[in-house]
Amino acid sequence: MALEVATNWSELAEQYAQKHPSEILALAFEKFSPNIGISFSGAEDVVLVDLAAKLGGKFRVFSLDTARLHVETYQFLEKVREKYKISLEIFFPKPEPVQKLVQEKGFYSFYKDGHQECCGVRKVEPLRRALATMPAWITGQRRDQSPSTRTFVPVVQADPTFSTPENALVKFNPLANWTSKQVWDYIRENDVPYNSLHEKGFISIGCEPCTKAVLPGQHEREGRWWWEESTKKECGLHSGNKVA
Ligand code: ADX
Ligand code: SF4
Repeated sequence: MALEVATNWSELAEQYAQKHPSEILALAFEKFSPNIGISFSGAEDVVLVDLAAKLGGKFRVFSLDTARLHVETYQFLEKVREKYKISLEIFFPKPEPVQKLVQEKGFYSFYKDGHQECCGVRKVEPLRRALATMPAWITGQRRDQSPSTRTFVPVVQADPTFSTPENALVKFNPLANWTSKQVWDYIRENDVPYNSLHEKGFISIGCEPCTKAVLPGQHEREGRWWWEESTKKECGLHSGNKVA
């Protein structure tokens, strides 16, 4: 019996580095469909859902509901669920650690002692649970989103953070090389629905207490965890990113 040759993801990342996000998604589906999940935040990464729907393959879409999202984001998630006829999977935090955190430190502890603890229980643990159900996932990370933490994001990689001995997870980042302008050109040209917060000056969108609108000329990441240093602005979902 022939031995199966393991895929060399860094080689594929080089081959696909300059390809269109659609081609990167097609590769992801060829390898893993139907058990591959688009990790959808309810922001500009809607582009991934649109591109994937157009490819016609079978895929999953999931969101992490931290219970601290903006009302507009919940409304947008519903809009996307209806428009693309997808069964959006929602992963919630476990109640016990959230209850403990809020009981001990209140609803806004992150302003005092950093966002890692709250993100840990509200985002990272649910993500870990979601990823345990799939061999590969797809994110909307882009290199231009954060010069300090996303400069080296490849289009595909062996997941450096969430792989386990039982699940050698693969992570696709099909928008890695797209700029914000390319994303927004695509949204406009293809009549893709978007989160109404974008009309109010929001660019990067996360949880309500940790996201704010930015002024003209400000970098989008300045609207996230603005009270912390830029090199700390990863919440743990993508903590394996190499720092520039
Ligand atoms: S974060 O780590 O700082 O919060 P960011 O908002 O830039 O991430 O989004 C980058 C990618 O992370 C998104 O395109 C999406 O794939 C994933 N992501 C972020 N937040 C969520 C969420 N609440 N649910 C699902 N995926 C998310
Ligand atoms: Fe908590 Fe803010 Fe992280 Fe959301 S972004 S999980 S509210 S610290």
